[in-house]
Amino acid sequence: LARGVAEPDLAGRHVVISAGGTREPLDPVRFLGNRSSGKQGYALARTAVARGARVTLIEAGTGLPDPAGADVVRVGTAVQLREAVLKAAPDADVVVMAAAVADFRPAEYATGKIKKKDGEEAPALNLVRNPDILAEISAERARPGQLVVGFAAETDDVLANGRAKLRRKGCDLLVVNEVGERRTFGAEENEAVVLAADGRETPVPYGPKEALADTVWDLVSESLRSR
Ligand code: CTP
Ligand code: CA
Repeated sequence: LARGVAEPDLAGRHVVISAGGTREPLDPVRFLGNRSSGKQGYALARTAVARGARVTLIEAGTGLPDPAGADVVRVGTAVQLREAVLKAAPDADVVVMAAAVADFRPAEYATGKIKKKDGEEAPALNLVRNPDILAEISAERARPGQLVVGFAAETDDVLANGRAKLRRKGCDLLVVNEVGERRTFGAEENEAVVLAADGRETPVPYGPKEALADTVWDLVSESLRSR
């Protein structure tokens, strides 16, 4: 969807977007992370600013420069991301969870660097579950009529998994894309289907992440207007 002139259809709206990938520290020098570049979340932030929204961007581990016109909050772990989202959500018309949130974190944090010792086995890594932020904010809307949008990257049975995930999470929209060896992570372009809780499915052809972002805002804007 090419837009010559941005329509300020999100003027007066506050959107909260999470972007990037959380990092779960093991010790002061190591973490468990993921391959999310944050580019899709930043594209959502830029396009929302262009369409007139007030934007709060909660960023984890991207290293990307702040998009002009957005308030940026920096976090590290999933627990910190949850706190930042819950803090911003009561004032938000829309919350978009584009961040890749670690499902697990190390059960213990070593305050000193973990060292190997001669003759000792490799240590086992014990993990615990992280909170599911998307499910939580979908179940308990911080504001009546608030819209919640999730993202899902799937490698197999993309649509079936996406539909099941949309129901499980309880969000209004779920943007599903197929990932694999060379797809999506770090790329400039993306292909996706946006699944809606009302059953509508909007395919987005392979193209720039801004185009996918604009499709999400088209659907959000339409939904906000009809509430
Ligand atoms: N998400 C979240 N909190 C988590 C995990 C995921 O808020 N602890 C959000 C992501 O930001 C994304 C959506 O949930 O918007 C889907 O993430 P995904 O990893 O695909 O879902 P999971 O429920 O973790 O399923 P899976 O077992 O396939 O990883
Ligand atoms: Ca996950």
